[in-house]
Amino acid sequence: MGMGDEVLLVERVPVDAERPEVGVVVVATINRPDKLNALNQTVMSAIKDFCADVERDDKVRCIVFTGAAPAPAPEGKRAKPHAFVAGADISEFQGLGSEEVRPMFSDNGWEAIWRLSLPTIAMVDGFALGGGCEVAVSCDLRVASDRSRFGTPEINLGLIPGGGGTQRLARLIGHGRTMEMVYTGEMIDAQEAHRIGLVNHVTAPEELRDRTMALARSIGSKSSHTLRVAKSTIRAALETSLSDGVQVEADAFANLFDTEDKEIGVNAFLAREPAVWKHR
Ligand code: COA
Repeated sequence: MGMGDEVLLVERVPVDAERPEVGVVVVATINRPDKLNALNQTVMSAIKDFCADVERDDKVRCIVFTGAAPAPAPEGKRAKPHAFVAGADISEFQGLGSEEVRPMFSDNGWEAIWRLSLPTIAMVDGFALGGGCEVAVSCDLRVASDRSRFGTPEINLGLIPGGGGTQRLARLIGHGRTMEMVYTGEMIDAQEAHRIGLVNHVTAPEELRDRTMALARSIGSKSSHTLRVAKSTIRAALETSLSDGVQVEADAFANLFDTEDKEIGVNAFLAREPAVWKHR
């Protein structure tokens, strides 16, 4: 666990407390609760560094991204609202021109999350707006508390999403719904986000972590090699034609027959025993 003043807190949770060899779920918490966890350049480079570290770490099985909870209300003031991430840090946009912004948004934290080879989950409690909605959409799955709200309000700043939102959101929820979100900048609540497939599960805030970690542990208990193949194969559906994608799947499926984990999984099923993966 990092220090309290770090913008990205990293926590390692065993997939199975009784079998540490199975590996860990890594929970990365974006930690600027006073600014609703807005993504400034410091957070962005911390996310990129984190993703590079995770990719080199063979103990990791699944990655959860979340936002820090607000501090209790100071005397006589209201508490800050709960947020996953309320967007890119707007204070960094003032006076900025295309020359400066282009490199900032070309090889960015959203792409780093998207490119992670293992499964990722966004654990959302509160506002997921603009760049925050894009962090959620860069993850593979989303679990949200029922007080969460999603939106792409960039239009109100004279902007459009810049973290891959127009593309990834359109592929996730369809271009018609994406256009409405991007044109109006209006927020949708967690129930609506669930209805349109933007989030996988909605829970009470106090159950959010347990629900998310149960999902992460379930995923983390599979063969990490097979998970990587599953992720990259499903991604092909977003990048290629149907017939090319089906061919990608056929190749990936066939290749898995040369892995020890396929033999381990099939033997374990037939012996009615739990599989102990080589690629744990
Ligand atoms: N960038 C920088 N700072 C942000 C921010 C962002 N995207 N979102 C919130 N903050 C800051 C606020 O400036 C405020 O800072 P302060 O207390 O130092 O003044 C703090 O976070 C709390 O936000 P506040 O606006 O006071 O909370 P609220 O409950 O009144 O409103 C929101 C919550 C989410 C509706 C509002 O903060 C908002 O609209 N944020 C911007 C969302 C956005 O446009 N995102 C897209 C960016 S590309």
